[in-house]
Amino acid sequence: MNFLFRKELNDLVPYKPGKPIEYVMKEFGLTNVIKLASNENPLGCSEKVKQALTKALDNLHIYPDGNSTDLRQALGRKFNIDVSKVITSSGSDEMVDILAKVFINHGDEVIMADLTFPRYITTTKMMGGVPVIVPLKNFTHDIKGMQNAVTEKTKMIWVCNPNNPTGTMVPTSEIIDLLENVSEDIIVVLDEAYREYVTRDDYMLDSERLLDKYPNLVILRTFSKAYGIAALRVGYTLAHEDIISNINKVRGPFNVNSLAQVAALAALEDQDFIKESFNVNKSGKEYLYKEFDSMGLEYALSETNHIYVNVNKDAFEVFDKLQREGVIIRPIKDTFIRVSIGTMEENKIFIEKLRKVLNI
Ligand SMILES: Cc1ncc(COP(=O)(O)O)c(C=O)c1O
Repeated sequence: MNFLFRKELNDLVPYKPGKPIEYVMKEFGLTNVIKLASNENPLGCSEKVKQALTKALDNLHIYPDGNSTDLRQALGRKFNIDVSKVITSSGSDEMVDILAKVFINHGDEVIMADLTFPRYITTTKMMGGVPVIVPLKNFTHDIKGMQNAVTEKTKMIWVCNPNNPTGTMVPTSEIIDLLENVSEDIIVVLDEAYREYVTRDDYMLDSERLLDKYPNLVILRTFSKAYGIAALRVGYTLAHEDIISNINKVRGPFNVNSLAQVAALAALEDQDFIKESFNVNKSGKEYLYKEFDSMGLEYALSETNHIYVNVNKDAFEVFDKLQREGVIIRPIKDTFIRVSIGTMEENKIFIEKLRKVLNI
């Protein structure tokens, strides 16, 4: 057909999610399959979320609050920030897309790392922007290199902190250095999807404190990872009021559904669940490091709930063989895979199957 699609779509490819557990079971005749591919919380979500959702089921015929008022107020209280600086979205995925629509004109340059979260490059190209890719150094964002890549055409800089897929983080001092050294008309986005898992104390857990001094800073966070409600699609963004009002022009009027709002509110209140998730992740990470060390596999030190590992064999072949053994991971590139940290039981199964597949 001769449909006249926008030419910006020509070299985009649809996101290819991994196969769901049920499909892998059916395809390979398996009775037990574990998924360590999408950085989900292996503990599920807080019981309080389930209770709140049950109550909310009576109101499915009513449109959601288009302003997520209760949730935004709760976030404002939690982070001690004015509610005018808080906005929610259908996962932070949606906000990556909205920010591209709000800021990127044709020909604008957008600086990002290689490797990082793939939606930054897709949404840049979608708007006719020009991705400027700065290689990672030692698996970590090269903040100086990103500063050096700034030109008069630069519109945005993406820093995934900590980074997906490598798990590495940028310390507070470098974030401040970046903000000090780029002009105010360049938007600096910190994507903090994995902040709840960070163990290092030179990570800026309260980056929202920078918003008053640096109005060009945008902070993205999500309920999909440590909070464990990825299925419901809810994230939040902290930014200057002017940025928030322009986001409001672009977003759908009811982009965050009622169940997502209710669940996020309940999830936020259960910080014991977050602590437990952090602890399970930390001990899982230590176990996996020990096993990788004993197998002689190189990996990047992770501040997230996933580890980027060099399996010294084609990543896609290893992925395929592991899948046949009932373990779904994510092949990234060359000989590198990304494995999400699971429960201890899942981690042990993964290691057993990895040893089998790699013959170690
Ligand atoms: C760095 C990063 N940002 C954003 C997202 C999107 O998360 P969600 O749309 O579920 O909030 C992910 C999900 O994997 C991610 O890894």
